[in-house]
Amino acid sequence: MLRQGGRGVKESDYEIGFTTGENDSDIFRFVIDPEAEIRKWEYVTIAGKGGKIIGRVEKLTSFSDIMQENTDYRTISKLHDVNVRQVVDIAVARSVGTIHKDGSVSKGNREFIRPGTGVKKSSVEEMKILFGYDSNNSVILGALSNYSTVEVGASINGMRRHVAIMAQTGAGKSNAAAVMIEELVRKGATVVVLDPHADYALIKADKEMADFTKVMKTPMSTGRYGKELNAVTEIFSLRFQDLSEEDLFNIMRIDDQWTTLKEIVRKIIADTRGKGSLDDFLAAFQAMDKGDRARIAGRVSLLKAIKPIFGNATTGIDTYLKPGQLSILDLSGLDQDITSYFCLKVINEIYDRKVSGEFQYPVFIFIEEAHNFVGRESIGKLPGLIKKIAAEGRKFGVFLVVITQRPGKIDQDVLSQCNSQIILRITNPLDQRAIEESCEGVSQSVINDLPSLNTGEAVLVGEFVRFPVIVKVRRRETREGGGDIDILPLLEKSKKLREEILDPDSNRDMIRRLSS
Ligand SMILES: Nc1ncnc2c1ncn2[C@@H]1O[C@H](COP(=O)(O)OP(=O)(O)OP(=O)(O)O)[C@@H](O)[C@H]1O
Ligand SMILES: [Mg+2]
Repeated sequence: MLRQGGRGVKESDYEIGFTTGENDSDIFRFVIDPEAEIRKWEYVTIAGKGGKIIGRVEKLTSFSDIMQENTDYRTISKLHDVNVRQVVDIAVARSVGTIHKDGSVSKGNREFIRPGTGVKKSSVEEMKILFGYDSNNSVILGALSNYSTVEVGASINGMRRHVAIMAQTGAGKSNAAAVMIEELVRKGATVVVLDPHADYALIKADKEMADFTKVMKTPMSTGRYGKELNAVTEIFSLRFQDLSEEDLFNIMRIDDQWTTLKEIVRKIIADTRGKGSLDDFLAAFQAMDKGDRARIAGRVSLLKAIKPIFGNATTGIDTYLKPGQLSILDLSGLDQDITSYFCLKVINEIYDRKVSGEFQYPVFIFIEEAHNFVGRESIGKLPGLIKKIAAEGRKFGVFLVVITQRPGKIDQDVLSQCNSQIILRITNPLDQRAIEESCEGVSQSVINDLPSLNTGEAVLVGEFVRFPVIVKVRRRETREGGGDIDILPLLEKSKKLREEILDPDSNRDMIRRLSS
């Protein structure tokens, strides 16, 4: 007789197990047919009275009554020899949603799950119903882990309360962010990316994206552009004369309490008598009396260090804020303070335009390495502004996507204002705890999954999805900028170089010469 579930029967058509023991509506356990295959994170279906209850497998346990923890080696080896395999395989699943008889879907399960109820593997069709999305209102980030044909969408309206992308280094944050950018821009979104490592600049090389993508870099950029891309990249520059006193203090790291230093700077500005280029500023500084000059010299050297970024004009907001435009600000090659200054300037101008209503369209601001700009302990204007937008930006149509590899180091208010999360692999317990404490929708069971995620696998939680779900994020279609370098060819190259330098013949010659 053909076993139910044996070859030829579709897995979703037969019972791979039956519920046993005591179950509640949220968590149920079932004993599994030893021939069935089921893996952690797969989905199973139970026929309930009101519809189908879908559970996600969270734990697999196998045990045996005759092979106990304290059974000795000899006994077990004898049982092994006579092929005794009396094991019980138990799976524990969490009810994630219910597909009602009328086709509607709701979260979790509110029915009894009685012992002896049949459990089937969920079908692709069921998964599509559960994770279905309205393609007009969603971006598709990838496919369900274990069900590669089931695409998972995230609601764009759900992103109004900001998104956090979090993962340890190399787990796939920038790839996930690039996928989000590609999808949003296709939908007509206005996107500004603050990109400290030139990870996104190569999006411009993509034919489809090129027309509405603008890449701006400072003359100090270390981004790896090819010749062609360089030609279509604009320079983001500042005209020294356009800097306000306040701007200068920010760039020179002169905090409010340094009143003497502020006075000296004001004196220099007065001495330039309205001319005001950086050269004029430096000339006036040189002409000061020795005492003042010594006091301010360190700060002036900060200005000198960024001399190349000063040009004939200041890049205005109209260059980087246009309806439907993707603007990537390559901030590579700059130190943290001047990077922060640029971010402050850009975010501030965008926020002003949105608050005044001058720019009507929603703006998504992607902030890479967000922990560097709005850390737990950071004070100052930029963290203040980011916190303000996190709290109030949605009212004005400014939405943040904060990207960080150190959730434990980012300001916890900002994190808790992000109501949707894309979380990839994270093994550090401090970072896990920070996420659990700050992100409302993230339960212990989500945290437990984080260390075992593969690169590119992400848990989507929060307002932009109906249920927490693990997806395999798709690869970005555009080229990546600062991804992992392939070290093997480089090792090969350096080995060759070493061999050339350390040519044994020349070594021998040298030794002979030295010893003669
Ligand atoms: N969804 C994915 N599918 C397949 N490979 C991926 C995926 N996401 C990332 N990768 C691979 O992992 C590498 C690192 O990804 P990515 O640069 O996005 O990580 P990251 O978290 O931003 O790292 P970092 O902290 O260094 O910025 C990529 O170069 C790519 O090869
Ligand atoms: Mg990255």
